[in-house]
Amino acid sequence: MKNENGGFTLEGKTALVTGGSRGIGYAIAAGIVDAGGRVIISARNPETLEAAAQKLGTNAIGLSCDVGDPEAITTLIETAWGLGPVDILVNNAGISPFYNRAEHVTVEEFDSVTNVNLRGAYFCSVELARQLFDANRPASIINIASVLGLQPDLRQSVYAMSKAGLIQITKALALEWADRDIRVNCLAPGWITSDMTDSLLESRHGERLLGNIPMGRYGSASEVVGAVLYLASEASTYVTGAVITIDGGRTLR
Ligand code: NAI
Repeated sequence: MKNENGGFTLEGKTALVTGGSRGIGYAIAAGIVDAGGRVIISARNPETLEAAAQKLGTNAIGLSCDVGDPEAITTLIETAWGLGPVDILVNNAGISPFYNRAEHVTVEEFDSVTNVNLRGAYFCSVELARQLFDANRPASIINIASVLGLQPDLRQSVYAMSKAGLIQITKALALEWADRDIRVNCLAPGWITSDMTDSLLESRHGERLLGNIPMGRYGSASEVVGAVLYLASEASTYVTGAVITIDGGRTLR
């Protein structure tokens, strides 16, 4: 039975947000705490992670993990589960470390992006699912993909491919785990100002990127949070395998 606001509360729920120390992940973690949930944030650097967890307050803790390392993922999920059941996983950790045409991309660069954006999200989901199956518990998994996973753009072939793969991971796992009541959905944000994108958006390429957005502006991390709360909460109990674009109309062009 949903509450009067349609189920938009996370009281009693625990979420794990990868890449939760800054940017979109931090905004999501703050939104989860505001909605009454507990949050475990994860990122690589223990110091910035701890500072972010403290800023989020007593309902937040940090567990460091490089999601590019499968063994570290196993440890992360085991440690997080050891603190109590995890109801929500937000696969937010992601990188876009270069802006190059395909002919300049190296094998190392290719692997660095796919290991984090694709393999990391996949195995965080799988490791959590194993715990959920054992405990016979439902959950909501939310993947942070990108509009570039729906429509590519110049100089972002590997990133776009990784996000397209993440969208397909979303649908494949949603299908496999629907009978376990584990919902898997994803968001496809457009250009959001953050540490990841600021230098690109302010560069000579920014004008073209901005020109492709019908709403005529970039988004902010806080504009991604509402969709996460919807997908994480009981407001969306019949939603799985969905892709929600948050892009100021970018994919309409
Ligand atoms: P950001 O660079 O500000 O934050 C990324 C977070 O991921 C940081 O907390 C970082 O510590 C963490 N992280 C990076 N590599 C990691 C690893 N190997 N292991 C664990 N944590 C790691 O980036 P932003 O903009 O907040 O992006 C967050 C997510 O949203 C990413 O998946 C990104 O691809 C996606 N996204 C961002 C858009 C944008 O315009 N900013 C648009 C569409 C999607």
